[in-house]
Amino acid sequence: MAILVTGGLGYIGSHTCVELLEAGHEVVVIDSLVNSKREVLNRIHAVTGKQVAFAFADLLDRSAVTRVFQEHAIEGVLHFAGLKAVGESVREPLRYYHTNLTGTLTLCEVMQEFNVRRLVFSSSATVYGAQERVPLVEDLEKQPVNPYGRTKAMIEDILADLYRSDERWNIALLRYFNPVGAHKSGKMGEDPSGTPQNLMPYITQVAIGKRKELSVYGQDYPTQDGTGVRDYIHVMDLAAGHLQALEWVLRGVGIDAFNLGTGVGYSVFDVIGAFEKASGIKIPVRVTARRAGDVAVSYADPTKAEGVLNWRATHGLDEMCEDAWRWQLHNPHGYDG
Ligand code: UFG
Repeated sequence: MAILVTGGLGYIGSHTCVELLEAGHEVVVIDSLVNSKREVLNRIHAVTGKQVAFAFADLLDRSAVTRVFQEHAIEGVLHFAGLKAVGESVREPLRYYHTNLTGTLTLCEVMQEFNVRRLVFSSSATVYGAQERVPLVEDLEKQPVNPYGRTKAMIEDILADLYRSDERWNIALLRYFNPVGAHKSGKMGEDPSGTPQNLMPYITQVAIGKRKELSVYGQDYPTQDGTGVRDYIHVMDLAAGHLQALEWVLRGVGIDAFNLGTGVGYSVFDVIGAFEKASGIKIPVRVTARRAGDVAVSYADPTKAEGVLNWRATHGLDEMCEDAWRWQLHNPHGYDG
């Protein structure tokens, strides 16, 4: 039996494929390459010595998805595929709703047709939106503030309805905090297309000389140094969390949402300081205005994932920076090198 990984060549999906292969799973990837590179397949092989089966297809292509289920005995699905840029989702809401919602609906319909009802869904801490209090716990009311976040919240609700309609489904909704870092080998990591929107890839591109300086979006937040505070989590910890969630849905347990975070918040200056220490490179910064839509502080209460999934993050901020830097240094042009 195999595990289907949608979006398996993306940043988090590809690192999770490594974990799956190393745990002895047979892996089938479906990916449209809209935001990932075919080269990732070679890197997964280089790191694990194993191959994944690959279907180059979009989830919106129902016959292609059906073919994957016809050709492989799938026992469970890790569903990463989707569009994920906040700013782009504000400019192109229809594309975001269509891709993320219809892609998920198509996947679930085909799963149902083939009697596969075990699903791990990539949700996001962004479903919480601005909350009064941190740490964030799973039972808070969701209040996402942009179309991207709303697609994640809507899909969570759709999956909950699906479960209510048929309790044979087993579904884990994983709410990621801020994934950073890379595989220890330096062969796999985050490869954003165009200008990085997120903090860590921007920092590594400044360090490698691709960008002049880092803009720090606001130093007037009510935090210890005035910059935004986030819960950064090593991508290999996230990958390990998916394995635990997969075991949980394979055991047959219903539906639940879990935070995947460390429970520790770091400011933008904390991250810059840790990165400078890890790389030995000074990062030029310029403090600018706040970025629209940013909250001051966001970090997880990871207690539920610890208790139910038997998972907790083990990599600290220094390691996240060391690994992000090794990847960037060895792959100055990402997977295109
Ligand atoms: N930041 C900067 N300069 C930059 C980029 C970011 O100062 O060039 C700051 C932000 O203002 C924020 C922190 O660094 O305080 C982290 O920003 P990121 O863009 O890396 O991450 P976000 O927390 O904004 O959002 C990320 C993902 C979303 C996801 C969300 C979950 O981009 O997709 O985490 O909380 F939904």
